[in-house]
This record gives sequence, structure tokens and C-alpha cells, in this order.
Amino acid sequence: MIKVAPSILSADFGKMAEAVEKVKLWGADWVHCDVMDGVYVPNITFGMPMVKALRGYTDLPLDVHLMITRPEKYVGQFCDAGADLVTFHPEASEDVEGALETIKSKGVKCGLVVNADQPFSIVEPYLDKIDLLLIMTVQAGFGGQSFKEDCLDKVRAGEALRVKNGWSYDIEIDGGVSPANIQKCKDAGATVVVAGSSVFKAADPTAAVKAMQI
Ligand code: DX5
Ligand code: ZN
Repeated sequence: MIKVAPSILSADFGKMAEAVEKVKLWGADWVHCDVMDGVYVPNITFGMPMVKALRGYTDLPLDVHLMITRPEKYVGQFCDAGADLVTFHPEASEDVEGALETIKSKGVKCGLVVNADQPFSIVEPYLDKIDLLLIMTVQAGFGGQSFKEDCLDKVRAGEALRVKNGWSYDIEIDGGVSPANIQKCKDAGATVVVAGSSVFKAADPTAAVKAMQI
């Protein structure tokens, strides 16, 4: 069954603790935390202190998506703050293998992200080293954008290589995911989906989560 990771980017930033508690009540599987630095992406959200604070309010896995430059400088601190999974964009890093190793050495699951404007080939050298492959179906930076269906080719590529090589990474899709396109995500090979607006702005968030746990 697909795991659903609501993105707190779509929550009320004045009520973040309440938001992660609601995510659990809605029956979701992970909490997706979008960290943006205003350099790798043209938007700024929050950093390690927020992850550390939220750790105290939920026992759901904290799925930390780093949209920051030089992630190798910070991944250890995000692990120490309480992340369960840490993903970053390889083209933003000068030491991809080192960053993956740092995350693993902390006992945290590591992953890489393919942004909508990046080719699948940027993650290929590292696929045997990751626990999670995150494929973006929007350009990273903002919630509420529409789903780019052509990015599903990268999900299919990741799934084909996973099967061929006997690897076991999860494949997560992030950006514009909703009950309307969840079947396409699953058919392409997704095992986890991020959902910001389609859960937080839903009239019935519990129903929205359930509709994507297919
Ligand atoms: C975009 C973020 C996404 C975003 C998803 O840069 O990585 O996680 O919050 O939000 P929706 O589901 O609204 O596209
Ligand atoms: Zn994200």
C-alpha cells in the first residue's frame, strides 16, 4: 500500500505542532518537512530547530527534504535534530557520497532527489547506496503547483533499475499529488507520495489520505 507523507509546507506555520499531531490523526504514514534555503530554491522555510521542535510532537517518521546548497554541511545536524529520513538534491552538493555516508552513520535513512528540471542520470551512480529515491513532479520551491506527468518516466526508470538490481529503496513522488493522480503514481512505481495542498486544503483530510493509500 502507498504510504502518504503530508507536507507541512501547506500547514499554518503558527500552528506547526498542532499540524503534525493532525497528520497522525488523519491516518498518514510520514510527516514531510520541506527545508528551503533561498539559494538552491527561491523560497525560505525552516531549518534544524523546527525539525527538533516537531520531533517532540509526533512519533511518525520525519521525512526531511533538503532543498539547500551544500547539504553535506548540514545533514548531520538534521539527523541529530530527529529526522528519520533525509533526502537532498545531488546537483546542490559537492560531496554526495560523503553526505550519504554521514546520514547513514547517524542511523538515519538517506535518499536523493531528482528535481523536475534534472535528468534521471544525476542519481544513477548512487542508487545502490540509498534507502529512498524522491522524484519531483513539480520544480522544487513551492507547494500548490500542478503535477507534471512527464516526470513519471523518471519514476519508471527508478523502479526498473530497482527490480533489475534487487535494490529495495522506496520511491517517493513529490509535487501536485492528489487522489486524482494517485493511480498513475502507483502504476509508475511509487511506494510513497508527498501531499501538501491535497491533504491540508481538503474538506476531509482523513478521506484524502485514505484515498491515496491504495
Ligand atoms: C515543493 C515541495 C513539496 C510541496 C508539495 O518544493 O518539495 O513537498 O510541499 O506540495 P503540493 O502537494 O501542494 O504540491
Ligand atoms: Zn518536498
